[in-house]
Amino acid sequence: MSSLRASSSKLVWVAALVVSLMALCEAQLSHNYYDKTCPQVLPTVKKATGAAIAREHRMAASLLRLHFHDCFVQVQQLPDTSVDKISRQWRRCGPGVVSCADILAIVARDSSVYVGGPSWKVKLGRRDSTTANKDLAEQNLPIAFDDLDTLTSVFARQGLSLKDMVVLSGSHTIGLAQCATFRGRIYNETNIDAGFARTRQRRCPPTAGNGDTNLAPLDLVTPGSFDNNYYKNLLSSLFCVDICVHTQMDESECWQICQGCDASILLTDAAGIVSEQNARQNFRSARGYEVVDKIKSAVEKVCPGVVSCADILAIVARDSSVYVGGPSWKVKLGRRDSTTANKDLAEQNLPIAFDDLDTLTSVFARQGLSLKDMVVLSGSHTIGLAQCATFRGRIYNETNIDAGFARTRQRRCPPTAGNGDTNLAPLDLVTPGSFDNNYYKNLLSKKGLLHSDQLLFNGGSTDATVVAYSKDQAAFFADFAAAMVKMGDISPLTGSAGEVRKVCSVVN
Ligand code: HEM
Repeated sequence: MSSLRASSSKLVWVAALVVSLMALCEAQLSHNYYDKTCPQVLPTVKKATGAAIAREHRMAASLLRLHFHDCFVQVQQLPDTSVDKISRQWRRCGPGVVSCADILAIVARDSSVYVGGPSWKVKLGRRDSTTANKDLAEQNLPIAFDDLDTLTSVFARQGLSLKDMVVLSGSHTIGLAQCATFRGRIYNETNIDAGFARTRQRRCPPTAGNGDTNLAPLDLVTPGSFDNNYYKNLLSSLFCVDICVHTQMDESECWQICQGCDASILLTDAAGIVSEQNARQNFRSARGYEVVDKIKSAVEKVCPGVVSCADILAIVARDSSVYVGGPSWKVKLGRRDSTTANKDLAEQNLPIAFDDLDTLTSVFARQGLSLKDMVVLSGSHTIGLAQCATFRGRIYNETNIDAGFARTRQRRCPPTAGNGDTNLAPLDLVTPGSFDNNYYKNLLSKKGLLHSDQLLFNGGSTDATVVAYSKDQAAFFADFAAAMVKMGDISPLTGSAGEVRKVCSVVN
């Protein structure tokens, strides 16, 4: 507890942080991004994608899924944006003039602006202390477990009103918190959305000492941008009173969160990189990496160093859909590639076939995707295959399944774990190789393969959308195309953030 207090000493600053030297993850994508720099990109990708799908038809499904699994994940840590570094730079341009205290104040304002938050005129003229006081820090800084009276007096002691406290806590629209700071809330409190609690429990085990430092975004909807979603979350009991007000931020104290389409999934294990390919949802499941490498090298031949791997994934997803009879859409471009990956966040953010509907809903909501987006994007399961281990529970234990269908699937998927786990079955039993609306028709007759598929038609709020798509393929196609564009917009790195990787599996 005391370390929490001590480490929170940068209350407001931590919220904003030091993104000011960096370009950000604001979406600024456009359809004509490569018109001048690489006009051949679209035909080149299309040809190489077509060749891969011609070699193996399933590759269309695998490539489409890769874009999805890329877009839902990424934390970009900016270790080189520490206050110390900025301070050093300032000293260079004006030795001995600007105090570190003033730098903190300016950096907080600039950080807010860079992530889409408000700006203000910073009053200057602070001087730096010549000492520090850990005890006083512990005494004066609020703690996530404090009650409202304590929090109020902690702020009042600094001349800040209740309203000030509420509005400054809005800083939690950005940033991350460690499991230890919100464990009590997600396991014991009642004023919390059940689906949200379950989602957070996935990466925050119940007993102290386990996963204590695992991170979760403070604002689950738009963790990378400064907006009022923090307050919306509170209305839906998504977050605690003030949880994690002052959580430990790592020594760099600097985070920029960009959850998005940044090709982080393509990076393999390397120094400082724990590959997302080994995350539970991707391990021995996501595929097509070498195909993307090939497509990238075809693009590198025509315009070296120009087209990002993240953009290639987005184009390839569209082309794959078209190749197997699905809809087309105009792909927005201009994404840049991450220089890091985050396996933990992948496990936290990607849906799991056994999740319940509330959890799935919040997994998508966290990315700004609606329930309808979730239903229509799940229509991707009109193509591709799944492994026995992912649907065993459904075909042996569930009741909302057609008995004949369950028996058919049981033939190649034995009941005990460890047997035939990797045996494959088509996600759409009728037309597994082509992109159509049979997926939804299957759900109507209780022939969804995954637990998460059938949940979409199980007497709940998504039933009507499933029925609509089962009757109207054109509507499904139009909505799917729009949702893919929306998914492709999830917090990309743009401008000078990240890089354009030369080889998609390694950073430059
Ligand atoms: C609703 C939440 C979702 C869950 C729980 C889920 C889960 C799964 C699982 C368990 C598999 C089989 C993996 C394996 O056995 O190796 C799979 C396959 C697939 N998923 Fe999803 N998925 C979801 C949403 C989506 C979305 C939104 C897309 C695309 C936009 C997508 C595209 C695909 C494709 C194309 C395949 C087949 C891949 C292949 O054959 O290689 N899924 N999904």
